[in-house]
Amino acid sequence: MPNRRDLLRFGAVSLGGVFSALLAVPGVRFLLGPLASATAERAFQPLTRLGQLKAGEPQAFAVIAERRDAWVKYPREPIGSVWLVRQPEGSNPPVLAFSAECPHLSCPIGLTPDRKGFLCPCHGARFTLSGAKENAVSARGMDALAVELSGGADPEVRVRFERYQPQVAEKKPLA
Ligand code: FES
Repeated sequence: MPNRRDLLRFGAVSLGGVFSALLAVPGVRFLLGPLASATAERAFQPLTRLGQLKAGEPQAFAVIAERRDAWVKYPREPIGSVWLVRQPEGSNPPVLAFSAECPHLSCPIGLTPDRKGFLCPCHGARFTLSGAKENAVSARGMDALAVELSGGADPEVRVRFERYQPQVAEKKPLA
């Protein structure tokens, strides 16, 4: 049968364990900070409703998200921008999403004057509305992003924003 001294020792050891665990939490958060930030960027972000998009008419949207690093949690702010292109009725997928960062050297991609394609103003890379490259300036087409629709009659269009390495033919996510 444990005596009083054993019980006191057991209590002290248990309390020590609890305090050690509590002290370890900020340390673990510190270590996982950059990981948490990358996860936030890769989460699906709501951009608009399907009913706000017209088939064949590209629209640009800012991606607003909370950013945090190992020490600081920043308020929600723009972390990038995305082009959405609604497809004709009955298409699957109903919406295409592309990063607005040019795969050549990361300038923001705009539209051609007739709005029937994409054009990067920096060095003249051109892309179709399906994101395929139309000249040799960029090593690859525009970076397609994952899209999901959620909700009922007029679903929310959500996009998973991600950045990719410029100047290479293969689409490689930035670390
Ligand atoms: S950065 Fe777009 S064409 Fe060079």
